[in-house]
Amino acid sequence: MRTRRDFIERVAAYGGSATAVLTALDLLEPASASAPLALEGSGRGTRVIILGAGVAGLCSAYELGKAGYDCTVLEARERPGGRVWTVRTGTRHVESDGSAQTAAFPEGAYFNPGPARVPQHHVTMDYYREFGVPIEQFANVNLNAYYFSSQGSAELQRVRMREAKYAIAGYTAELLAKAVSQSALDTPLTREDKEKLLDFLAANGGLNKAYAYVNDGAAGFSELPAAGNQAGTPADPLDLMSLIRGGFGAYFQNEREFNQQPVMFQPVGGIDALPYAFARRLRERVRYGCAVTEIRKTPGGVRVAYTGIRGRSESIEGAYCICTIPLPVLRTIPADFSPNVRASMNRVAYMDSAKIALAFKRRFWEEDDRIMSGISRTDQTIAQIWYPSYGFFGRSGGVLTGAYATGAAARTIGDLAPRDRSELALRQGAAIHPQYGDEFLSAFSVAWQKTPHNMGAWVAWTPETRKNDYPVLSEPDGAIYLAGEHMSYINAWQAGALESARDVVRRLHARVRAA
Ligand code: PHE
Repeated sequence: MRTRRDFIERVAAYGGSATAVLTALDLLEPASASAPLALEGSGRGTRVIILGAGVAGLCSAYELGKAGYDCTVLEARERPGGRVWTVRTGTRHVESDGSAQTAAFPEGAYFNPGPARVPQHHVTMDYYREFGVPIEQFANVNLNAYYFSSQGSAELQRVRMREAKYAIAGYTAELLAKAVSQSALDTPLTREDKEKLLDFLAANGGLNKAYAYVNDGAAGFSELPAAGNQAGTPADPLDLMSLIRGGFGAYFQNEREFNQQPVMFQPVGGIDALPYAFARRLRERVRYGCAVTEIRKTPGGVRVAYTGIRGRSESIEGAYCICTIPLPVLRTIPADFSPNVRASMNRVAYMDSAKIALAFKRRFWEEDDRIMSGISRTDQTIAQIWYPSYGFFGRSGGVLTGAYATGAAARTIGDLAPRDRSELALRQGAAIHPQYGDEFLSAFSVAWQKTPHNMGAWVAWTPETRKNDYPVLSEPDGAIYLAGEHMSYINAWQAGALESARDVVRRLHARVRAA
């Protein structure tokens, strides 16, 4: 039981506003995953060396800088952002096997090979607001996009998402309705409960009076409603067994994930808007083209050696180090990590992932297929086709993400030369969009497991490594703290990197103040 005094104290603790009253009563859900970052006191005079200018490193430098810390960020690339990267015409990419590509896109088109969508509840949104980064909606789910199953029957390979989605929902409701009517369910339902449940199933599944699935139009029309005598004809429902055998149901998992639910957002003009917003504020605190070659513990903290201007070896010292270098790269750098930290680092696995951008002369997906943004899915190696959520009806064509694969499919793509990746994406994608052949302009692909300074897409914790190794890597090793998406429970998201940075900043600051 909550006492009056307890309640008043809680309201006071939250600042006494109407929001505070609701929060104290537990009537509001948490607005964000972690508390606001308000560092009390100054870190003036404390030098922190930050390794990596991805969003974790940039956020660490930015937040510590607010509290007066003296931060230097070393970045191997010539740009900020790390995986938070936008490819535009002229962007060059060289993978670890030496294969080189240069992007050539239609005017105004871009491609985000890494992160490309942001859920509303992520801390990423707070930084967009803080920096005034313009954002727009990103369509993750478009029921007018396609599912394509290569295992499907000849008649049932390419379907609109709404056809598969509502047929599966309808047949499931139909089966359940049958079970309820026949009292086949071992539940204590009264007659009234049963009627209510049947009503609910009928409404939700689009069932007729006999509780059979019929397409009421939700699954699409064979003739669209218009004027005159054109009332519209709902398409015949897809056949349940064909849907099941074609594996169409398997594609629905993604959109039911907490982090993938509509609506989602993207910065206008490219996902790199956030790293550039950080970088503009940090200015010369970020040193580009500086690849870390050694990380050493010293009596006073840390010394980091790096390859600086014209390949010259340089070094820098600090009281603390925040290291955001992805583990597949970090474990190859000579460093004074404790044996247990090194052992944990070596056990953690990373995911492989690849995307292939395809530039086209014409926005045929919009003109011919009426697919305005969203994602088509398929069981082929390319896995997904993403239609741009910007530049609608653009006259100079556009860029699709013609493949977005993870795991084994990403390895298949990654092992190919860029030209063969493009050929694969065109061949498989043409089964969904026969227009591919006529409209193709150019391709640009990124396999993260072969991308220097990453050598992996994102961390892949297993129950064992999360239990045994995550806690080890979460503790500072002397003056060295690890940060990045891998050091969070929001893996493969910018929010994981940002939350991890904020967590390390909080802990480092508490330690400095206690010292
Ligand atoms: N965040 C990435 C994406 O949205 C990777 C990811 C995919 C993470 C699916 C979770 C689920 O594509």
